Amino acid sequence: MKKLGIYIHVPFCIKKCGYCDFYSVKWDEESENSYIRSAIDEIKGYRELEDYIVDTIFIGGGTPSVIMPQNIEKLIAAVKDTFTVAQNAEISMEANPNSLSQNLKIYKETGINRLSIGIQSLKDDILKRIGRIHNFSEALQAIDLAQKQGFDNINADVMFNIPGQTLEDITDTIYQLISKDIRHISFYSLKLEEGTQMYSLEKNKVITMPVEDLEREMYYAGRTIMEEHGLMQYEISNFAVKGYECRHNLKYWNQEEYIGIGPSAHSFMGNTRYSNPSNLKEYTLSSGKEGFKRNIQEVMDEDELMFEYIMLRLRLTEGLKFAEFKNKFNRDFEETYKAQIEKLLKDNLIYLDDEGIRLTHRGMDISNYVFASFM
Ligand SMILES: C[S@@+](CC[C@H](N)C(=O)[O-])C[C@H]1O[C@@H](n2cnc3c(N)ncnc32)[C@H](O)[C@@H]1O
Ligand code: SF4
Repeated sequence: MKKLGIYIHVPFCIKKCGYCDFYSVKWDEESENSYIRSAIDEIKGYRELEDYIVDTIFIGGGTPSVIMPQNIEKLIAAVKDTFTVAQNAEISMEANPNSLSQNLKIYKETGINRLSIGIQSLKDDILKRIGRIHNFSEALQAIDLAQKQGFDNINADVMFNIPGQTLEDITDTIYQLISKDIRHISFYSLKLEEGTQMYSLEKNKVITMPVEDLEREMYYAGRTIMEEHGLMQYEISNFAVKGYECRHNLKYWNQEEYIGIGPSAHSFMGNTRYSNPSNLKEYTLSSGKEGFKRNIQEVMDEDELMFEYIMLRLRLTEGLKFAEFKNKFNRDFEETYKAQIEKLLKDNLIYLDDEGIRLTHRGMDISNYVFASFM
């Protein structure tokens, strides 16, 4: 049976953070109920995928922990009613520290076996500055309670490159998470996205972004501490104790198939990338007799698939394996990209061995340049 990942986008937050451009609206009960009805309809509409086995489910957002936990149960039940779900499926849910604690027992009983908590920082002044609604002690308490409830597979999202953040803020935050036995950290460099509050503040010179050297120093410092404590880098922004890598996200980087449920969710099936409307009203109204209206983003030809695969695989520290490439595209990688490999080796941007190529640390720093050379 072919494997399938399912991403479910829950588009609600209590308050929009200053940096975030993920699609979400302010929560209210009526919108939650109409969203749940549509999302369940959408899941059931995929009944034709009966020759697939679902081995990962990722409930993301927005903030899935702000909706009724019974509704999370309903979403998972709809998936189980519609698809064959693997016994050992990874079922992840994103959560905000202050809306998680009271419902942990239900999440566990529902079969969620991985939590991704938006910690961002363990410094209260930084949390305030980026518009978070929790403080550092609530964040630590959420981790404690989740672990007490039996969750050992917990990711903490941590952000660096925040205006006013020091190197010590970052190292302290990471040391504390490691001392809490956190086994996965997504370590994101703050990027100012157009349309967000922090983007305007920077444009109007109210805040100033850290200089590039400090941004890199923060990244290197975080990476070193995590690796010294057994959280090994497996992707540009992701670190995990061996065996705790996120299986769902690995599907994206391995160019494997997944469907996205909910407003703004993206899917990749066969050679086609498509997405749902990025607006809750439009999404709920888009379901009709012929199913949900979706936007085809890209029907990819062989060259496009190949280029994208190279780019995605090189994000992983494991890199690109020649045998897998040959198996997927029936092409010899070393022969096809001989000139590029020579140049990137000379510039110390990749390592090469009998099995494949992978980025050096320098290659990771300028990964977009490396990717572009394969175009
Ligand atoms: C959907 S949110 C996480 C779940 C939950 N809503 C929360 O914030 O606690 C995904 C993560 O992406 C990261 N993120 C969002 N916007 C970002 C940006 N502009 N730059 C860097 N990281 C960002 C944050 O670390 C955030 O926790
Ligand atoms: S970071 Fe999380 S809580 Fe903040 S606005 Fe984005 S999705 Fe919502």
